Amino acid sequence: MKLIRSITRMQRISRALKAEKKTIGFVPTMGYLHEGHCSLVRKSVRECDVTVMSIYVNPLQFGPAEDFTKYPRDLNRDAALAKKNGVDYLFVPDDSEMYPASYRTRVEVDGITRTMCGASRPGHFQGVTTVVAKLFNIVMPDSAYFGQKDIQQALVITAMARDLNLPIKIKVLPIVREPGGLAMSSRNAYLSESRRREVRIVYRALTAARGLIRRGERRSAVIIAKMKKLLSTIKSVKIDYIVIVDPCGLLPKKKIAGTTIIAAAIFVDNVRLIDNIVIKV
Ligand code: PAF
Repeated sequence: MKLIRSITRMQRISRALKAEKKTIGFVPTMGYLHEGHCSLVRKSVRECDVTVMSIYVNPLQFGPAEDFTKYPRDLNRDAALAKKNGVDYLFVPDDSEMYPASYRTRVEVDGITRTMCGASRPGHFQGVTTVVAKLFNIVMPDSAYFGQKDIQQALVITAMARDLNLPIKIKVLPIVREPGGLAMSSRNAYLSESRRREVRIVYRALTAARGLIRRGERRSAVIIAKMKKLLSTIKSVKIDYIVIVDPCGLLPKKKIAGTTIIAAAIFVDNVRLIDNIVIKV
């Protein structure tokens, strides 16, 4: 595995790979890798000739009161994991190259960025699409791999790629969960063992919702009320949102029908965690 720090060098490598007709799979990350990231890498390794991973904690997607400075970082650990899982090139740019003082451009997807996490984190998705568009232009992948945990992010990036005619397949892979059901996230590292156990309630609420739907319940309000009740049993958990939305516009659905996303965002000790399930009826 080669560690690449310069944008020009990464672009030169990608152009050379393309000239050799090699397909490039890309896994963009902010580091502090876990099994969710590794599952994306392994899929890319299976599907593409060469796999590139980026590690870049993108300042543009954090709000002023968010965890940019304390976001967990450990390049040595990440590099070992990336190598073990089959990454060929680890691209780790720095801020001065990504956003030099003269930097002016933003990429923004309309509509679906305003609901859910977009409502709680203004500017977040603009930061995500801006950095991902830049990374796509640097790495020039054929396929890019994202996790379903950040389902809104995955849909926003899919919309960006479609709207801007980017010749890149966006692949969304299932959530990887810890043994008690907690969705894997780099931010889980902020939590104590006891908090980690407590926040399993989020997945329990989602599975309870699925259970209700399987038994015939179709009213979103009833399902959301049940989820809120379950979450309220854990004092440390504050609900940011619980929504039942359609996967196209990410707008609330009153009744469950067709493909539906049930998503939740919570705070525990000021750490924001998200999770979701997709239901097809
Ligand atoms: O999902 C993430 O880790 C980030 O939002 C991404 C896609 C790497 C952009 O910074």
